[in-house]
Amino acid sequence: YLNYRVPRTRKEIFETLIKGLQRLEYRGYDSAGVAIDGNNNEDKERYIRLIKKRGKVKALDEELYKQDGMDLKADFETHFGIAHTRWATHGVPNAVNSHPQRSDKRNEFVVIHNGIITNYKDLRKFLETKGYEFESETDTETIPKLVKYMYDNRETEDISFSALVERVIQQLEGAFALVFKSIHYPGEAVATRRGSPLLIGVRSKYKLSTEQIPILYRTCNIENVKNICKARMKRLDSSTCLHAIGDKAVEFFFASDASAIIEHTNRVIFLEDDDIVAVADGKLSLHRLKRSASDDPSRAIQTLQMELQQIMKGNFSAFMQKEIFEQPESVVNTMRGRVNFETKTVLLGGLKDHLKEIRRCRRLIIIGCGTSYHAAIATRQVLEELTELPVMVELASDFLDRNTPVFRDDVCFFISQSGETADTLMALRYCKDRGALTVGITNTVGSSISRETDCGVHINAGPEIGVASTKAYTSQFISLVMFGLMMSEDRISLQNRRQEIISGLQMLPEMIKEVLSLDEKIHDLALELYKQRSLLVMGRGYNYATCLEGALKIKEITYMHSEGILAGELKHGPLALIDKHMPVIMVIMKDPCFTKCQNALQQVIARQGRPIILSSREDTESSKFAYKTIELPHTVDCLQGVLSVVPLQLLSFHLAVLRGYDVDFPRNLAKSVTVE
Ligand code: F6R
Repeated sequence: YLNYRVPRTRKEIFETLIKGLQRLEYRGYDSAGVAIDGNNNEDKERYIRLIKKRGKVKALDEELYKQDGMDLKADFETHFGIAHTRWATHGVPNAVNSHPQRSDKRNEFVVIHNGIITNYKDLRKFLETKGYEFESETDTETIPKLVKYMYDNRETEDISFSALVERVIQQLEGAFALVFKSIHYPGEAVATRRGSPLLIGVRSKYKLSTEQIPILYRTCNIENVKNICKARMKRLDSSTCLHAIGDKAVEFFFASDASAIIEHTNRVIFLEDDDIVAVADGKLSLHRLKRSASDDPSRAIQTLQMELQQIMKGNFSAFMQKEIFEQPESVVNTMRGRVNFETKTVLLGGLKDHLKEIRRCRRLIIIGCGTSYHAAIATRQVLEELTELPVMVELASDFLDRNTPVFRDDVCFFISQSGETADTLMALRYCKDRGALTVGITNTVGSSISRETDCGVHINAGPEIGVASTKAYTSQFISLVMFGLMMSEDRISLQNRRQEIISGLQMLPEMIKEVLSLDEKIHDLALELYKQRSLLVMGRGYNYATCLEGALKIKEITYMHSEGILAGELKHGPLALIDKHMPVIMVIMKDPCFTKCQNALQQVIARQGRPIILSSREDTESSKFAYKTIELPHTVDCLQGVLSVVPLQLLSFHLAVLRGYDVDFPRNLAKSVTVE
């Protein structure tokens, strides 16, 4: 938002917006768009130009300069432009689905949105009955339509922009950071958030003599607020706060991430959920949606000390590490709007129309590669239990090599973070040709796998940048468990089990946090192990997949030899590897395989092995025989793998760092394997 003494040209405005988007490129995106003022003439009716493009920010940048009638030299005293890169959650990546989304063909209201609106279907239905026509497949489009509906049905002519937005967000469920622009409020901006990050950068050539800005409550007008603020906080007075911020020579930057604005200013205000920020007449004001006694009446202006690179990765040294630590939130996003913890029900919107057909099938085949394949192994047992169907789990390449028989009454799942893995995609086409129903479980809406499958689940883990997959694994795991729960809704004999699993899901985010708090201990373990050549990871039952996945993480980023071993196979060969020099990690949880794992432990000890045990906190036995123990919180047996994989993700990360390797870009590997 520019409000400058020296007017800015349209070209400068474009450059600011595009630069901001480029700074966010590291988060992954599939399309981008901007909305700017179409004219700068106060006498003419204002209009908004929307320019959107699938693909890279660079493509959008080129597009801006190709537009007809865009005078690049036109200058603006005040201007509010918005821009967005999209990572699709609903609807394929294309220009129509990308943001800004609009209220109508006149672009009366335009909106950019980060997050997911979970009740968008109900809102869309309501707005359609009122005659609003939708053009995209996005959840976001309901928002500009809804704000237009509020505007069209306003009781008073002079309703403020922020009051309209306030009404809109009262109707929204899910997570959002939103920025609004409208031809009805030229030169004004409104932004708000709930569950998704949003901050405001403040740039002024005047020193702001206060480090606080007050929140304005809806019932107060500006004059009242100044008085209230004066009385409440001595340090604030009208000239240093509202007026200084509202001074002519000030610019405000709204962004979901500091990296987008850091080159303009390092002075930022981090917004809280349900804050509504409005800029009008160059004045910034903050409102709360609800006023409660616990509301803090001010927001501090903070000075960021970080470098750009640091901001992008937060406090983490690598994207992989950041993504490991994001798991308490990413698993919530996977379940959001799908698991109802009160009614203990699960609804996967992307599958519900095919549920009858899936229930009639004779067998489930789950196909993937690498980590995605491991997510299928991890959930196979609970899927067999909940669906009462035979479940085959297949590596895509091997499945194709064998020309595996597939029939019309099979349901085939394709698990892929990227949605572009060539082997998985070819297996999908193979199954489609044979008439099976195909289901995609991907993290990338609009990817080839999500487009070509009959139906699917978007795991909503957010972009994964580190080549080694971490948060996608736990979200794939949970998506498959949710599928099993949905399939078993009517099975009376399974109700107790279902309830136990759903309660377990609810506790997972907190439990993942507990596991993450073991990071220092795991770092110490890595210090002991990082010079080893080899590392075995052993377990069975629900945690066999944990061993495979842990070993894959270790080999791909540390370049150590590592093997995931099924403990039941120990005496059939791997036992020969055990001696006092070979490090062995054993995953022993309090589940139906506990006694058998104890047997394996004894066999390892008998060969002078020195096992490092990942154990359940409820287990008092195993630690007696362990060289080292890492105790994990205990959850439902079939969900334990979501917790037990985390220490191995952390261990592989620390080992790789200690060995001096680039964690995010392991040699010879690519994030998306689009060749056979
Ligand atoms: C391991 C890893 C790979 C991928 C595999 C499949 O950390 O990331 O093993 O899991 O290449 O990729 P997607 O899931 O994109 O199909």
